[in-house]
Amino acid sequence: MQKYEVVKDYVYSQFAKISYEPLKTAAYTHTAMVDASITLLAISRNVRVERAKICALLHDYAQFVDNCPHDQHAKLSSLYACNFLKSTELFKVNEIDDICYAIQMHSHKEQFDSPLCEVLKDADVLARFLENPEKKLSEIETKRLLKATSDIQK
Ligand SMILES: [Fe+2]
Repeated sequence: MQKYEVVKDYVYSQFAKISYEPLKTAAYTHTAMVDASITLLAISRNVRVERAKICALLHDYAQFVDNCPHDQHAKLSSLYACNFLKSTELFKVNEIDDICYAIQMHSHKEQFDSPLCEVLKDADVLARFLENPEKKLSEIETKRLLKATSDIQK
């Protein structure tokens, strides 16, 4: 989990600089919730756990650090992730590609994707549910939530 720790230190140090307190709180809360959720899902689906947890740390990075428009956050977060992961010199090219692809596509909840991207999408939905169980879910979110909770129980 050495690579995860490096990424976590970086991401949380950047979140600490967010000046708008509600955004900072959302960054910590949502990122930690997705990180916890993806751990359970990755184990249940035999997806690489450390790689999945790194996706969780970086998946909404631009939304929180740049406060960018929601429709651009996945692509921008993927670009940030790619640049940062390269700069650490800890990752192979295929690892960076796998992580950045998952982050880039994670908003497309209606589409079936790579195993890593699927755990990220489902962990995102599960985390949002855990943060506010009263929020109304779309049909695809409901499907993903049911699939995620059933996979975790297996
Ligand atoms: Fe997102």
